[in-house]
Amino acid sequence: MKNACERFGYESYDASVLEPAELYRGKTSEEIVAEQTYTFTDRGDREVTLRPEMTPTIARMVAAKRRELTFPLRWYTIANVFRYERPQRGRLREHWQLNADIFGVEGVEAEVEIISLAHQIMLDLGANESDFEIRVNDRRLLNGVFKDCSLTEEEERVIMRLLDKRHDMADFDEKLSDAVGPERANKLKGGLSSAASSAHLEELLSLLYKLGITNVHVDMSIVRGFDYYTGTVFEVFDTSPDNNRSLFGGGRYDNLLQMFGEDAIPAVGFGMGDVTAHDFLEAHGLLPRYVPATELMICVMEKEHIAHALRLAQDLRREDVAVAVNFSGKKIGDQVKQANKLGIPFIVAVGDKERDSGHFTLKHLPTGNEFILPAENIPAHMLSALG
Ligand code: HAM
Repeated sequence: MKNACERFGYESYDASVLEPAELYRGKTSEEIVAEQTYTFTDRGDREVTLRPEMTPTIARMVAAKRRELTFPLRWYTIANVFRYERPQRGRLREHWQLNADIFGVEGVEAEVEIISLAHQIMLDLGANESDFEIRVNDRRLLNGVFKDCSLTEEEERVIMRLLDKRHDMADFDEKLSDAVGPERANKLKGGLSSAASSAHLEELLSLLYKLGITNVHVDMSIVRGFDYYTGTVFEVFDTSPDNNRSLFGGGRYDNLLQMFGEDAIPAVGFGMGDVTAHDFLEAHGLLPRYVPATELMICVMEKEHIAHALRLAQDLRREDVAVAVNFSGKKIGDQVKQANKLGIPFIVAVGDKERDSGHFTLKHLPTGNEFILPAENIPAHMLSALG
């Protein structure tokens, strides 16, 4: 994810996990603020919240430094966020979320870039275009339909929430009818199915097609659960029947910075969680095998050889080899077993013979191949043994 963001020219940012509770009120999602935040009073009597998402934080940061920043601004982060949700498949109370956002671009090219980046990340994870689909909508189309049905602001919020949950609801029609009455419910449904697209969405799709991104289509049921979206919204779905669900999403939010007392700055971005990404990889057999960063374990014959082992480790680390020294005091065979269990590919043992001769036996555990070498030749041999 990091690599893809940087190839697209995005720079990383960071922030504290703790924010003033006020940052979220009336700006994001009533459901999250009222039911899902971890909010408490700190020792200075301030009401603080563990961030449930990054968008208000980045909006606050960009608003505060807007005069020093260069636009378009492209920022990304991989941050932990907290939501008091019922833990279930795809949902935990803490997860890590990639956020990529572009500020300062009014035109559709910002959406094109953000969706291309999301698409590229999926390809980098090993997915084919048929493994996932990108569903886009435009909040302005929805607003048009709402207007025709003369909904109050409160009704709009309720309907938006119902639409956002539509895919998990058996009684959507009933709830819709309860909320606005049967007549307007019918009108709404009719409006939603006939307002099939807009010039803006058609342009977006055509630009994406030109980039070879073809698994994208308009879906009027995509609304996204946040109040701050103003235009395009999108959500990426897994197409596997075993994991047929939303993986992540985002959209355009042109007015959020205004809420910090600054002029509006157009913005588009998305958030992608690690939990849903993991489920996707699992469903498609794409989970990578874990490989430790440690390349070599130095096994120590006797306690008296530790100083020599430390010296060898220091020399190798200065040559950029990732080395761990085994301090367990166990028998050599057990130390080798430990290296195997950890998946460390190389071992070297240090005892009297090695200390006296200055030659070491480097063993590549997966193949069992051994090489007898002076210390300075170890790094080069490791590289060539790995091919
Ligand atoms: P969101 O759809 O609420 O959007 O969250 C983005 C993604 O984070 C979800 O699609 C899912 O992958 C993951 N996620 C959310 N809640 C949980 C949870 N409880 N457990 C595991 N994963 C979860 C936002 O948060 C927007 N702020 C995204 C955005 C950025 N829009 C513009 N820029």
